Amino acid sequence: MGLALYPGTFDPVTRGHVDVIERASRLFDRVEVAVSEESGRETLFTPSERVRLIEAALEDAEIGAAEVVPVRTFDGLLVDYAERRGADVLVRGLRRASDFDAEYQMAVANRTMRPGLETVCLITSGEYGHISSTLVREIYRHGGDLAPFVPDAVRTKLERRRTSGSFE
Ligand code: COA
Repeated sequence: MGLALYPGTFDPVTRGHVDVIERASRLFDRVEVAVSEESGRETLFTPSERVRLIEAALEDAEIGAAEVVPVRTFDGLLVDYAERRGADVLVRGLRRASDFDAEYQMAVANRTMRPGLETVCLITSGEYGHISSTLVREIYRHGGDLAPFVPDAVRTKLERRRTSGSFE
């Protein structure tokens, strides 16, 4: 298999997302994380902040055989971006049955717009099934402990931003 894109908003990246990236990296030759610049809802972190957080998360990730996992942002339709990147596969994480309807709709719409572009859904590992970016944003806003929900390098950056306004 060639290039697989893992698209999402990643506002912010969580341990669940990293689990999907690690597992995808053992299935495909190349995996790229694609950060949506505008997904129709207001985000807490800017696209470049979301990229930096994913890059920090990947420093400690257990990446498999995949060549590299660079992170890029995209705007417009995902199918157009996938075409520009030459990707054959979209990877998505499925946590619970409640994720299925939206994933089904997206996968069918994307394949209708670009036949041949397959969506592969990886079932989220059990310990991450309850994690969502919304939950992380809420804990972040209220000063709670982020450790169980985001990788350590991401937690460090989020805590710095919460106290000083910047990741550094
Ligand atoms: N573990 C933990 N959390 C997970 C997860 C996993 N394996 N998989 C998904 N999630 C959570 C996220 O934390 C996030 O939680 P939130 O809703 O509380 O914020 C939510 O599921 C989904 O976020 P994310 O994984 O970042 O992706 P998304 O659903 O926001 O991504 C796009 C959607 C960007 C792929 C889609 O909107 C898109 O393709 N946009 C481009 C425009 C386009 O082509 N539109 C037509 C699409 S048919």
